[in-house]
Amino acid sequence: MTIANLSEESFKEILSANLTPSATIKTPERLYGRAKSLTQIERALASPGRQVFVYGDRGVGKTSLALTAAHLLTAAEHPPIYVVCDRDSTFGSVMQAIGNFVVNVEDRLELGGKPPSVSATFAGFGGGFQPGGKKTATIPTPTSINEAMDVIRYVREKLRGRLVIVVDEIERMESKRERETFAEFIKNIPELGDSTSFIFCGIGSTVDELIGNHPSAGRIIEAIQLERLRHNFLWEIIQGVADKLAVSVGNEALVRISQISDGFPHYVHLIGESMFWSAFDDPENVSSIRARHFKSGVEGALSRAEPVLRFQYQKATMKTRNTEDYEEALWSMADTTSDMRQVTEIYDSSYKRIMAKRGQRMPLPRDKFNHRLLALRGESHGRVLVGYGAGWFGYRENILKGYVRLRAESCGVQLGRDHVVPA
Ligand SMILES: Nc1ncnc2c1ncn2[C@@H]1O[C@H](COP(=O)(O)OP(=O)(O)OP(=O)(O)O)[C@@H](O)[C@H]1O
Ligand SMILES: [Mg+2]
Repeated sequence: MTIANLSEESFKEILSANLTPSATIKTPERLYGRAKSLTQIERALASPGRQVFVYGDRGVGKTSLALTAAHLLTAAEHPPIYVVCDRDSTFGSVMQAIGNFVVNVEDRLELGGKPPSVSATFAGFGGGFQPGGKKTATIPTPTSINEAMDVIRYVREKLRGRLVIVVDEIERMESKRERETFAEFIKNIPELGDSTSFIFCGIGSTVDELIGNHPSAGRIIEAIQLERLRHNFLWEIIQGVADKLAVSVGNEALVRISQISDGFPHYVHLIGESMFWSAFDDPENVSSIRARHFKSGVEGALSRAEPVLRFQYQKATMKTRNTEDYEEALWSMADTTSDMRQVTEIYDSSYKRIMAKRGQRMPLPRDKFNHRLLALRGESHGRVLVGYGAGWFGYRENILKGYVRLRAESCGVQLGRDHVVPA
């Protein structure tokens, strides 16, 4: 016990209540930097017939925003409905999942569960709940938009008051046609009345990319593009925990954490957790975070980062030859906040500096460096980079940049120095 007389129990409680690298956020106090987006959702859903679509980079905080808004706006008597799509999802299966939300899980899953009788509600829809082959009670999969509307009407009979339904990860649904059916459905949502609202979420750079271009759905949807979190909000995440633990965190650590995370809160939570644990485990009495705690934060974050990020990094760089070249190329590419960079600029302003820092390694000539970047677009390197032509490159998924920055940091190379410094 080395932080201000905190017991391990209280320390854990504070940490788990404030740092959640693997969990979404559902309350506005913990949702930093999204007040404007929350107001936008609140106002959009107050407008009759309007629905919301949140889109943006992977890991930027879409689900957290949608769930926080949904909890705020749904009547207190019941939680909002949350369904998530997968590769094989169809429009029908998603609508069925929404319907199943109001069917008792026991009725649905247990052998011999008694199917509730709701035939009347489903007039023209196959007569309501079907006891499945194993005598389970479940909402039948709607096969048309009208049937889907009936499912939502049934849900509305069960859940009174304001209801927000979140349909998440639309991008995972492989069938483009099924996704486009959502656009057709969206046109009809206003018929369900003003107390039922939908928030859709998906990874993408436009809504069209996710559900196609449907002019009438476009009139109904309020599209919210979620940007990466600004640095001051990333600092606030750490500062908020530090205040509760009664330890101080210097500007240097705050800046470095926000540089590494590049606007993706996952990394801030991850580094924060390991950093504060290391302070807690410190044999000395700790009242302020030191460089060694920050270093442990980086190492801990590296070993606990999402396995998929580690895998992508390894696939991109671990080759029989030139592994370090690929790493240095990826680091150079991740050196600024820009999502698109030109090879000459990457080479001159990032690669040369990084190689100078590396000391013992000889820099590649420019054409070879260019080849490394080109290779990183290929299948055998996990297609981690994309090429835009004329020597322009970007990361396929910006969230990987944070992991790349962690790797560089742990090898003594600081990236992302174009970030703002706190006042
Ligand atoms: N505004 C925020 N303030 C603090 N932390 C946040 C914020 N938004 C998200 N987070 C944290 O960031 C991480 C990612 O959040 P979330 O899962 O909501 O992102 P996402 O965009 O839905 O990700 P994915 O694209 O993988 O579905 C989580 O650890 C969450 O706790
Ligand atoms: Mg999500």
